[in-house]
Amino acid sequence: MTDANLESDLVRDFHSVWHPCTPRRDQETNPPLLIERGEGVFLFDRAGNRYMDVISSWWVNLFGHNHPRLNAALQQQLAKVAHVMFAGVTHRPAIDLAGKLLSLAPPNLSRVYFSDNGSTSVEVALKMSLQYWLQVGRPEKKCFVHLSGGYHGETLGALSVCGLGLFRAPFEDVLMENVAVQGPDCYSCPFGLVPGSCQAECFGPMERALEEGAGRIAGVIVEPLVQGAAGMKMYPAVYLKKLQEAAARADVHTLYDEVAVGFGRTGSLFVAGTEGLRPTFLCLSKGITSGYLPLGATLTEETIFAAFDGDFASRRFFIHSHSYAANPLASAVACETLALLTEDDFLAGLRPKIAAIGAHRPRFEELPWCGEFRQTGMIAAVELVRDQKTREPFDPARRAGYAVYLEGLKRGLIMRPLGDVVYFLPPLVISLEEIEMMMNTARTCMIEALGK
Ligand SMILES: Cc1ncc(COP(=O)(O)O)c(C=O)c1O
Repeated sequence: MTDANLESDLVRDFHSVWHPCTPRRDQETNPPLLIERGEGVFLFDRAGNRYMDVISSWWVNLFGHNHPRLNAALQQQLAKVAHVMFAGVTHRPAIDLAGKLLSLAPPNLSRVYFSDNGSTSVEVALKMSLQYWLQVGRPEKKCFVHLSGGYHGETLGALSVCGLGLFRAPFEDVLMENVAVQGPDCYSCPFGLVPGSCQAECFGPMERALEEGAGRIAGVIVEPLVQGAAGMKMYPAVYLKKLQEAAARADVHTLYDEVAVGFGRTGSLFVAGTEGLRPTFLCLSKGITSGYLPLGATLTEETIFAAFDGDFASRRFFIHSHSYAANPLASAVACETLALLTEDDFLAGLRPKIAAIGAHRPRFEELPWCGEFRQTGMIAAVELVRDQKTREPFDPARRAGYAVYLEGLKRGLIMRPLGDVVYFLPPLVISLEEIEMMMNTARTCMIEALGK
């Protein structure tokens, strides 16, 4: 492939493709990487340059690119059938996958509804919750509580429970009316406490919202432990325990959106199931196919499913579908992904990697623009600030995070900071040696971009 071809492909891209979350001016000055192939934690562009996939291609990849077992699972299914609709038809990969998911999820969850991405897995949970209350004679329960900093996808329903103005603002007037609650903010804890020793003293606003609004609230939705799009904001499980108790008292559903944190990212397979946490709905996607194919799954309880027990005339069934729901190729790869995740004590093998990432904390904390280094399992983040002492942020016009991203590209790292939060969310198979490379190179990029 000559450079002329590369140029012409980028020109064609510029004139015909609309890329997500990409300002046009950025695309002009920094054209997208033209990726040709992947191998393990690395991606290679057309010129053969190698880039480490530091953020797992938007948080989806668990086992690296071009994995022989995932490739084989896909090819085997491809030789049988690529796709069939999922109403009036079923297939082995979906049946196997549902069984495996349920065997790994907390025991209160007994049904799996398949869709085809993270936003749809959330939409399904929201709609099921609403329709459940309608069908059990509580039609007034029709809004959701959500947290500041929460993110659950981009469709209008999911945006209606989003706590981030960046995503909501243009659509504010057409979103469903829900209840936004100040969520945990360990970075600037109003009580001056630190995670680990606190008792979620910040739970007050949620407690009040649930008490006061119980009669009209259908459910409360959270990203457990890590609010990804908010900038990898982290909070302790004690908040979720309090939420579980308060939600039970208020008779509202709990919706865990583990689209980002599910499948081992926090060190556990799911947050649901740890510490006795038992959500009513568990939304999954991203890592479910280790980044191979789109798939969503919404798990729920038998009581929810039972409320949809009706014939055609009653209309008590879930009238919601996606053409690619439970796609057989995606389901087959997901089964193999779960096999990889659960054999040879894979999750226990993450512990030294989690420790290796954490060992870099002091090397970041010593830098003058590190407001915080935080970590939950295989997810770590550095909050870039103008002044470490006061934590005064950088002027947004400086685009400190973006400057670090550009340095990363020069040095073979694909990062994609969230504003001024540089984060690490690598494929789980990253080796200890690759972790050193990732953390050291990222630190160099930050110094290059921001000074020392
Ligand atoms: C927590 C969470 N929920 C939902 C979504 C939406 O997933 P998708 O982009 O597959 O629609 C995301 C995407 O980043 C997410 O992080």
